[in-house]
Amino acid sequence: MTADTEFRKLVKDSLDHDRACVVSDEVDPWLELSAIAAKKLGTTVFFEKLKGYPGFRAVTELLSSDTKCERFWSKERGDFLSMISTAAVSPQPCRVVEKAHFTRRLKSLDELPLPRFFSSDGGKYITGGMILIKYPESDACNISFNRLMQVDSMHLAFNIHKGKHTDLLCRDAEEKGRRIPAAVVIGTDPAVMIAASAPAPWGTDELAVASAIRGRPLDVVRGPYTGLPIPAESEIVIEGYIETDKVPEGPFVDYLGVMHGQGTGRLFSVEKVYCAENPIFHALMPGNSQEHLELMSLPVEAEIAQRLRKLTRFVDVTLTRSSGLFHVVASIRKSTDGEAKTALLAMLSSYPFLKHAVVVDENVNIRSIAEVEKAIALCVQADQDVIIVSGAKATMVDPRSTSDLLGAKMGLDATRPINAGKEKFQAVPWPETEGKNE
Ligand SMILES: Cc1cc2nc3c(=O)[nH]c(=O)nc-3n(C[C@H](O)[C@H](O)[C@H](O)COP(=O)(O)O)c2cc1C
Repeated sequence: MTADTEFRKLVKDSLDHDRACVVSDEVDPWLELSAIAAKKLGTTVFFEKLKGYPGFRAVTELLSSDTKCERFWSKERGDFLSMISTAAVSPQPCRVVEKAHFTRRLKSLDELPLPRFFSSDGGKYITGGMILIKYPESDACNISFNRLMQVDSMHLAFNIHKGKHTDLLCRDAEEKGRRIPAAVVIGTDPAVMIAASAPAPWGTDELAVASAIRGRPLDVVRGPYTGLPIPAESEIVIEGYIETDKVPEGPFVDYLGVMHGQGTGRLFSVEKVYCAENPIFHALMPGNSQEHLELMSLPVEAEIAQRLRKLTRFVDVTLTRSSGLFHVVASIRKSTDGEAKTALLAMLSSYPFLKHAVVVDENVNIRSIAEVEKAIALCVQADQDVIIVSGAKATMVDPRSTSDLLGAKMGLDATRPINAGKEKFQAVPWPETEGKNE
């Protein structure tokens, strides 16, 4: 496969490493693609032929692990997280170019290989689509991953959580009775994918955040219909409007693998559809997909790392994938007892979907649930080391959040008290064998 764009480089990189899987038989996007990819969650699967869509290819589970991200950007984890948090506050300008990768015009959505992932889903879905809109008062653009369900040949219904920047911009336009020119971008520069998952400050040009992540300007072309700056290297682009109308969206099996019933979505009217030659459709898997979890967690881990660096000697942080990102664990090298609790407050307030935070000492491997559990078991005194906050902002993906999206947060200080003897908490190493019987 030729790797002439950053997206295709990422696909090639995943195929060359990680024991990726190439499916050369024709596969139906209707329930078959997801059934095959679901058996390989975490591993990239490349589909060479899609039934009913000649010329199209598809890929699943691209940015599905820390290792893949670190390899693609040639950065160690700490530097990678710093790069993301720095980019969010120091965007770099994009470069406007004439030539787009997506030069082919299609008549409608029906020519795109939109998958149906689960039989209970409300329809065919675009899950790797990023919605691009402009802030009305400036040239800055907001870009955000949102799932979009096909309504008919020229309409999509998309999900949007209350309070996200895309939601706020839609509400402002709705109050003025205006529809918003918008584009949906599928399969593009991975830096844009990170920027689209990251909650940059209100008003920030998130395409410029992508430039900062790249370390060089992101090439954008003026959208032929909307005039929006669209990442030039995209595989598929849909231009149109976000209407003021609300429409049914769902049911859909989300990233936790749980079904969300039919809800209210926003209506996207399609005006133009474009694709690259031999396009690669990014079929971002729902239902415990490692890629979804990775994309969601990276910006939050980057934000927490940045906050903790200011408060303590920070070592590492992870949003545990097995908790569906409701749990966050950080390790620190504390010098006073209060530091761990201060770190917990910073962690729990960094993103609304976090429910439970744990802080451990630097010697604990936070990627080992067994080590974290042992630290909790040995270090926590429940009446002294647990913080509980009621009625904080939660998210609709949490099945225990209230209808007005409130929920409780809990922090566990699982660090050893400074004055407690180390020996009571640390395992004694086995004697060395000195090479005998090895
Ligand atoms: C793969 C993926 C799919 C997502 N789908 C949705 C979605 O359907 N609705 C939503 O509100 N947020 C969704 N998100 C989260 C938003 O993209 C993310 O919070 C983003 O930062 C919101 O940006 P904004 O606040 O600038 O609009 C998704 C994230 C990822 C990585």
